[in-house]
Amino acid sequence: MYRGICTAILVIISLGGEAYADLRMNPDHIKGPDACGECHKKSVESWKQSHHAKSFKTLPRSENARDIAKKMGLKRIKADSDCLTCHFTSAMVEEKVKPIAGISCESCHGAGAEWIDVHSDFGGKDVKAENEDPAHKVERYSKSEAVGMIRPSNMYALAENCYQCHTVPNEKLVNVGGHTAGSAFELVRWSQGEVRHNLWYTDANEGASIERRRMMFIVGKALDLEYALRGVAKATEPKKYAKAMAKRAATARKQIAAIAKRIQSPEIDQIVEISSGVKLKLNNEEALSAAALAVSNATRALAKRYDGSEFGGIDGALPTEDKYKGLVTP
Ligand code: HEC
Ligand code: HEC
Ligand code: HEC
Ligand code: HEC
Repeated sequence: MYRGICTAILVIISLGGEAYADLRMNPDHIKGPDACGECHKKSVESWKQSHHAKSFKTLPRSENARDIAKKMGLKRIKADSDCLTCHFTSAMVEEKVKPIAGISCESCHGAGAEWIDVHSDFGGKDVKAENEDPAHKVERYSKSEAVGMIRPSNMYALAENCYQCHTVPNEKLVNVGGHTAGSAFELVRWSQGEVRHNLWYTDANEGASIERRRMMFIVGKALDLEYALRGVAKATEPKKYAKAMAKRAATARKQIAAIAKRIQSPEIDQIVEISSGVKLKLNNEEALSAAALAVSNATRALAKRYDGSEFGGIDGALPTEDKYKGLVTP
C-alpha cells in the first residue's frame, strides 16, 4: 500500500494528475482541513494542537530534517520529495502537487472531494439526521466508502493508515538519511491522547469505549506485525533498517502470541501460525510478502467479525490513561 502511494505520486508527477491509482491520497481529490472545518470545526481545532498539524511548519525548520534531506540528496523538504508522503497532505495547486497541510483529516479518513457532499446529506436540505430514512443512511455510507471515505467503524482501514507511516518502511531513508526506523507505536496509546477527536456526536471528547480499545489493541498489534513483515521483505542490506524491522516483527509476533493466550479467536490463532513459520531474513521477499498478506486477511476478518465485547481477557494488557501519547484537547 505504501509502495502504492509512492508509485501513485510518481505517476502523478509525470502525468500531471491523470491516471491516479491510489484514491485515498489522490492530490486531485484532496480538499484540505479547512474544507472539513466548515462543519467539523471542533475537530479541526483539536487537530491544530497535534504534532500532525504542527509538523507542516516545524519540519522544514528542523535541523534534523535538513540533515536527513541533505543525506538523501534532497534540496527542498516541501518540494517533490520523499518526505511528502508521510509528513504532509498534498493537493493539486495550479496543476502541480503541492503540500498544503501537515498530516491531516484526509490522511486518515481518505481524500474527500468525492464523498464530502455524499456523507453529509441526509436526503435533502430539509432532512435532519434524526429524520433520515434508515435505508438512505445505509446507502449514504456505502456510497461514501465506495469513493474513498474511511469511517471510524472500519477499524482495519483506519488503523492501517497509522502503520503505513509509523513503521517508516523506507530503507534508504533510514540507512542513508539517518531517519528513525519507526515509532514505538501502539494504537490505543497513540490514538487516545492528542489524536483523539470524538467531537461530533458529543462535545465531551470522551475516549473510545473499552470494547473498542480492545479491538484497537488487537488489530493494532496485528497491523504492526503485518507492516513489519512488509518492511523486512523490502530490506536489501544487513543494516539499521533491516535490523529494526526484523526486531519489530519478532516483538509483534511475541505480543500476538501472548494475546492468543488471553482470548478466543481462530483469526488470532491463524495469525500466530502464519507468522511463526516465516524467517525474518534478507532475500526472503516472497515468503514474507505472502505472510504479510495472509496476516492482513486474517486481521480484516477479525476486525469485521468482532466488536470487542468477547475479548475481556486482554483488559489487563491495555494501556492506562496516563500512558496516552500527548494531551487530549479540548
Ligand atoms: C457540509 C458539512 C460537512 C463537511 C464539509 C464535512 N463533514 Fe463530515 N460529517 C458531516 C455530518 C453531518 C456527519 C454526520 C453524519 C451522520 O450523522 O451519520 C459527518 C460525519 C463524519 C464522520 C463520521 C462518520 C461515521 O462513520 O460516523 C467522519 C469521519 C467525517 N465526517 C469526516 C469528515 C472529513 C474528513 C471531512 C473533510 C474531508 C468532512 N467530514 C467534511 C458533515 C460534514
Ligand atoms: C514512511 C514515512 C516517512 C517518511 C517517508 C519520512 N518520515 Fe520523517 N517521520 C516519520 C514518522 C512516523 C516520524 C515520527 C517518528 C517518531 O515517532 O519518533 C517522523 C519523524 C521525523 C523527524 C523527527 C520529528 C521532527 O519533526 O523533528 C524528522 C526530523 C523527520 N521525520 C524528517 C524527515 C525527512 C526530512 C523526510 C524526507 C527525507 C522524512 N522525514 C520522511 C515518517 C516518515
Ligand atoms: C491520525 C489520523 C486521524 C486524523 C489526522 C484525523 N482523524 Fe478523525 N478519526 C480518526 C480515528 C482513529 C477516529 C476514531 C477514534 C476513536 O474511536 O476513538 C476518528 C474519528 C473521527 C470522527 C468521529 C468522531 C465522533 O465523535 O465519533 C470524525 C467526525 C472525524 N474523525 C473527523 C476528522 C476531521 C474533520 C479531521 C481533521 C480535522 C480528522 N478527523 C483527523 C483518525 C484521524
Ligand atoms: C501520513 C502519515 C501518518 C499517518 C497516516 C499517521 N501519522 Fe502519526 N505521525 C506522523 C509523523 C510524520 C509524525 C511526527 C510529526 C512531527 O513531530 O513532526 C507523527 C506523530 C504522531 C504522534 C505524536 C508523537 C509524539 O512524538 O508525541 C502521535 C500520537 C501519532 N502520530 C499518532 C498517530 C495515529 C494514532 C495514527 C493513526 C490513527 C497516525 N498517527 C497516523 C505520520 C503519520
